[in-house]
Amino acid sequence: MVRENIRHLTPYSSARDEFTGNAQVFLDANENAFGSPLPQSYNRYPDPLQLRLKNALSRIKSVPPQSMFLGNGSDEAIDILFRAFCEPGIDNVITLPPTYGMYEVSARINNVEVREAPLLPGFQPDLDLIAREIDENTKLIFVCSPNNPTGNSIDRESIETILNNFNGLVVLDEAYINYSRYRSFIQELKEYPNLVILQTLSKAWGLAGLRVGMAFASEAVIQIFNKVKPPYNLNEPSQQLALQALDNLEQVNEWIRQTIAERERLEQALRELPFVQHIFPSDANFLLVKTGKPKTIYNQLIKDGIVVRDRSRIRLCEGCLRITVGTPEENTQLLEALSKMH
Ligand SMILES: Cc1ncc(COP(=O)(O)O)c(C=O)c1O
Repeated sequence: MVRENIRHLTPYSSARDEFTGNAQVFLDANENAFGSPLPQSYNRYPDPLQLRLKNALSRIKSVPPQSMFLGNGSDEAIDILFRAFCEPGIDNVITLPPTYGMYEVSARINNVEVREAPLLPGFQPDLDLIAREIDENTKLIFVCSPNNPTGNSIDRESIETILNNFNGLVVLDEAYINYSRYRSFIQELKEYPNLVILQTLSKAWGLAGLRVGMAFASEAVIQIFNKVKPPYNLNEPSQQLALQALDNLEQVNEWIRQTIAERERLEQALRELPFVQHIFPSDANFLLVKTGKPKTIYNQLIKDGIVVRDRSRIRLCEGCLRITVGTPEENTQLLEALSKMH
């Protein structure tokens, strides 16, 4: 699976890789020993393998730290998958559009062919088409569940069928899993050595600004991630603040409950509007809403200071706006602005 050049790569060995114990004087990393011009000290390089944060996440996720990669957003994990496993100009990957746009962008940056197997009506995978698209150079299949921008979860059985019938890596992006009625595949990692699960602290955890993404996979796959990643890919404040945030699981669970309740309230209220044609069932923190005049609504909302996402140019999302569930006050403001329109 691994690219030849990566298999033979001797990874960069940082000062913090070569010495990890306690010492009084650190003169091994060409840092500024005097300190930082800030109230807090950031003059030292961060832990390259983020062990404290991984240990804390390990308790929440019930996954050993050796099966975990942390990156500068899950976008970093996506990019590393291409760089480690896909030979530019030769290998290909399969995406199931409409889906998260970074899979394709990352593929194109890495000069890797993207084969599209569009979702069927109902936004479930076309398993026959996926099977036809796979060849000996197919390295990755991206499955996003709950899917962005459609909001639905992908059937468990379909995910299992793909995992059981594909020799490459199945990248299951669970960025929105906390809002879903279905459970994560994280407990299935042992069963499927070809499964890579992506999650993030950017959504339910409310830490998009810290850029902390997670990949869970077999130890063998994680070792390859660690070989390819930049040595200090997760900065010190992000590691510290994420660790601090993990103590607030109760608060996060409360926000999840509120978001789901608000999603249901929004859905019901939107259904009453004359220009709303369809609201797709959502397991995420957003709704995909089909209307006859997406651009007019989008522009009118902008005038009211409210920004939603126009997804109407995307195939299978014609006429659709993607609306993130906000606070109760924000959602009420949105509904008031929409109720003025005809
Ligand atoms: C499906 C999906 N995966 C990943 C991401 C990016 O996550 P991160 O902020 O961890 O890079 C997003 C962001 O919108 C997303 O929708």
